[in-house]
Amino acid sequence: MGYKQQAAEKIASALGQMGVDGFSSETVSSMLETPPNPAMGDIAFPCFQLAKALRKAPPMIAAELAEKISGAPLREVKAVGPYVNLFLDQETVAAQVIGTILEQGQAYGSSNLGQGRNVPIDLSSPNIAKPFSMGHLRSTVIGNAIANIMEKQGYKPVRINHLGDWGTQFGKLIVAYRLWGDEAKVKAEPIKELLHLYIRFHEEAEKDPSLEDQGREWFKKLEDGDEEAQYLWKWFRDESLKEFMKIYDLMNVSFDSTHGEAFYNDKMDRIVTLLEEKDLLSESDGALVVNLDEYDMPPSLIKKSDGATLYATRDLAAALYRHETYDFAKAIYVVGNEQRLHFQQLFKVLEKMGYSWARNMHHVPFGMMLKDGKKMSTRKGKVVLLEEVLAQAIADVQKVIEEKNPTLANKEEVARQVGVGAVIFHDLKNFRLNDINFSWEEMLTFEGETGPYVQYSHARACSLLRKGNYQPNGTVSLAEGALDSKEAWAIITLLNNFPEVIQRAGDNFDPSQIGKYVIDLAQAFNKFYANVRILAEEEAVKASRLALVAAVVVVLKEGLRLLGLAAPEEM
Ligand code: ARG
Repeated sequence: MGYKQQAAEKIASALGQMGVDGFSSETVSSMLETPPNPAMGDIAFPCFQLAKALRKAPPMIAAELAEKISGAPLREVKAVGPYVNLFLDQETVAAQVIGTILEQGQAYGSSNLGQGRNVPIDLSSPNIAKPFSMGHLRSTVIGNAIANIMEKQGYKPVRINHLGDWGTQFGKLIVAYRLWGDEAKVKAEPIKELLHLYIRFHEEAEKDPSLEDQGREWFKKLEDGDEEAQYLWKWFRDESLKEFMKIYDLMNVSFDSTHGEAFYNDKMDRIVTLLEEKDLLSESDGALVVNLDEYDMPPSLIKKSDGATLYATRDLAAALYRHETYDFAKAIYVVGNEQRLHFQQLFKVLEKMGYSWARNMHHVPFGMMLKDGKKMSTRKGKVVLLEEVLAQAIADVQKVIEEKNPTLANKEEVARQVGVGAVIFHDLKNFRLNDINFSWEEMLTFEGETGPYVQYSHARACSLLRKGNYQPNGTVSLAEGALDSKEAWAIITLLNNFPEVIQRAGDNFDPSQIGKYVIDLAQAFNKFYANVRILAEEEAVKASRLALVAAVVVVLKEGLRLLGLAAPEEM
């Protein structure tokens, strides 16, 4: 239990003695503030909200309340105007926090909020036969971090790669391949070649519109199970997936399911039947739609006039499938903000179908990746290919290692961990809805707010433990005064806050909370390292300070892991 919670419980029980109802320790905890200046105390409890219940002025209440609160980890309790100010006994808190972390190790900060319930997370979900875009990178990185965080909270995340492997574009691609394709070229560079064919299709279709009809015909054939169409489609899918796997392997991301859109092909008739039974379908220009006028939304398109199904239809089928398969606590879709309307419509249609569980579905949107202030798109040749980005980042890190630490063991693996970490962190340190400006300089320095900076700080801390011959020995006994610097206290309060930060990150699907937190902790550690002597101290003091460093190592490593970054011990 962190010290804030301990303080909240003391306040709640004192309020109980004063006969005030309705202030649980959770409520009190959410009311706690930090005094503007540390000389006034570590925690402040404002009494304004109690005035009504007690029919007294807040300063009087504060004075009465302050009398009733005492005991570890508190050193002093003072009423100051309408506030009760609490002073922590830093040594008691330090021993508690460090002891808990060293005892629990990587489990520190875990909770059982989720009680083992499933949370399907729809993430990454690139489109077959197209380059893996920056948007899909964002979805992969954000979704993977959310999955890790929710797992830490006791949920069972199910990572689903809802591949874009179905739709009219495959009809076009089949037509293009049959006209101009070359098997060897596709095998050599599948994504590039398939993209060429797709672009060529659109160029030629401007001159010869009959190609569009052929594309539709071939998609219809595909949906009806035509052998040649199926064969080509499956081949395109397999080759594309192989390419995507290279990226996932580099990033160390894996999936529990790769059921893409095509998986729902035989599950869509049921959706149409259900919608009919519930009398929700209407006709519009020969197409079948669900009207959403009452929500001020355009209708959701279920079936085109030629009978072909759509993205929305497949998402409806997927939602039902996920509900039936996983009986989820929540279902999450990590998909760009430009699809906001699509998900609003999806959830409304499910609601109209009478599914109350639709309330537990969340679209977790994110902003765009910009380059020079403009969207990075795959169509216009402006694209920075993700594989190239990762390769470049790794190569840059390799160069730095050759300069600074050429004898490092495991150089290649460390370069991969740090290069990929740089790219991931560049994304996750920002609140996901903000657009990100793609910048090499900003991504790859070992200083400032970057992944390599945090990883480097962790490695420095590890090296300090090695040099100090730190021995974990179960019990932590801190030498008096060893941790009474403001630098040490800054670290201890941060360490104490980690569980709270995880909870906030989980509740808001917001990994950037952890991104910012690990930067703060790395900075606090580096200040401590720069200003407080550690190795040159006498044994008991040294051991106490190393215990603090060991706790920093545990929490930095765990914070990085939650974000999807490795924490090499040397770099
Ligand atoms: N493949 C889609 C795209 O690239 C994203 C799919 C997101 N997931 C979903 N269930 N719709 O735009």
